[in-house]
Amino acid sequence: MSSLSKRESILVVDDAPDTLEMLQRNLVSKGYQVYTAPGVVEAIRILESTSVDLVITDYKMPEISGIDLVRHVRENYKYLGIIMITGYPSIHGAVEAVKTGAEEYLPKPFTKEELFAAVKKAFDDMKARRRRIDESGTGSTSYYGLIGESNEIKKVLSAIDKAASTTATVLITGESGTGKELVARAIHYSSARSSAPFVPVNCGGIPETLLESELFGYVKGAFTGANESRAGFFQTADGGSIFLDEISETSLAMQVNLLRVLQNKEVCMVGSHRPRKVDVRILAATNKDLPIIIDKGLFREDLFYRLNVISIDIPPLRDRREDILLLTDYFAQKYGKEYGKSVPHFSDDVLKVVQRYNWPGNVRELENVIQRLVVMVDSETIAVPDLPAHMHFSALSGTGFKRTLAEVTAEYIQNVLASVDGNKSEAARILGIDRKTLRSKLVVSKRSISSPNTDN
Ligand SMILES: Nc1ncnc2c1ncn2[C@@H]1O[C@H](COP(=O)(O)OP(=O)(O)OP(=O)(O)O)[C@@H](O)[C@H]1O
Ligand SMILES: [Mg+2]
Repeated sequence: MSSLSKRESILVVDDAPDTLEMLQRNLVSKGYQVYTAPGVVEAIRILESTSVDLVITDYKMPEISGIDLVRHVRENYKYLGIIMITGYPSIHGAVEAVKTGAEEYLPKPFTKEELFAAVKKAFDDMKARRRRIDESGTGSTSYYGLIGESNEIKKVLSAIDKAASTTATVLITGESGTGKELVARAIHYSSARSSAPFVPVNCGGIPETLLESELFGYVKGAFTGANESRAGFFQTADGGSIFLDEISETSLAMQVNLLRVLQNKEVCMVGSHRPRKVDVRILAATNKDLPIIIDKGLFREDLFYRLNVISIDIPPLRDRREDILLLTDYFAQKYGKEYGKSVPHFSDDVLKVVQRYNWPGNVRELENVIQRLVVMVDSETIAVPDLPAHMHFSALSGTGFKRTLAEVTAEYIQNVLASVDGNKSEAARILGIDRKTLRSKLVVSKRSISSPNTDN
């Protein structure tokens, strides 16, 4: 059923019988299924009647040239790979072949190793091309790569549509890993600005002292080391959209600058007093509750209202469990193809665990888990023991009301930590506590998990 388990097949086209025989012998020895044709007419007949993955054709043949075969293949078979053999050292022929659509060319004489390397490269390129074609085709459930059929996701999709038809500022909120950046991209690429750049900026990842010059650019001599003027992200995004991720991480001073950009639609490069007009649509995201941060005096209320013209909130994965299996299937297919492995099958118990688990790291965590399973597991069916240990734990303890709050808290903390690969800062961020509190809770949680739970 799966095309991946089928032997890869190659059609070899050459008017010289001994070359044809040599190619066939070598390729068969490598396990490929090989068809041969002495000319283009015979080759086309074979292509019409069998399913071939790759064509290796000679360039110079008496009646119809290899180039015509390349052209025919490109027009009729979008997935097929092509290798052109050039019989004499003709750079011109090779260039023409590649321009017409051959992946590879092989100058005669070539060694067995050169042949195998070219074949392998052609198959790799072909897989990449197949992936691109599949991804650009619009599946019914995929919207700019956003998978999901829950009512919650449908609301997000219709909000994206609305946002895309205006140039208003959008504030995207949602826990870590819920797909905020994906939503921002979807808005940009379905808007009238789609052919201009989408420029993502991680405001939390750029040091405060650099953020201003990164965003607005600087003029020559603005500071030591500024030997020439440089454009910032806003100039780069001119005509397009800028995505200000983790907007809550910006300083109050930077917030004033951003407010000015929003009000006046102009930016001032560092070291210059002359504002310049920019036409940039601002999309911002945060996993924090901005009103709370505003109350603490760490975020300007006026900027919040400027950003929040359209707001899109993406619910956590545990609140839209209908999407979990769809996403599981999607990532299994995606990574199966990417790693050239067959798409794994999940046991019913695995599917139960996956649906019941809390996914504190949301879609990103689910994606990571599936990716790892595709890479690590070689058996056809994935079973519960293949899942990360902290997920078994959640499977075993899923039922009944027999556990103390301390145990549940401890387990949750461990789950969150595992979901972010042990990154304590990230875990503390998700849990809404500081690192110090997390550290003290971890000590307690170790005790609570390792104490044998037999006294119930
Ligand atoms: N609905 C979805 N369909 C398919 N893939 C998704 C979906 N939501 C998220 N993803 C994938 O999950 C990963 C995380 O998404 P993204 O980076 O957009 O999240 P985020 O909300 O920006 O997270 P963070 O707050 O940690 O930056 C990405 O690889 C993204 O492609
Ligand atoms: Mg993000």
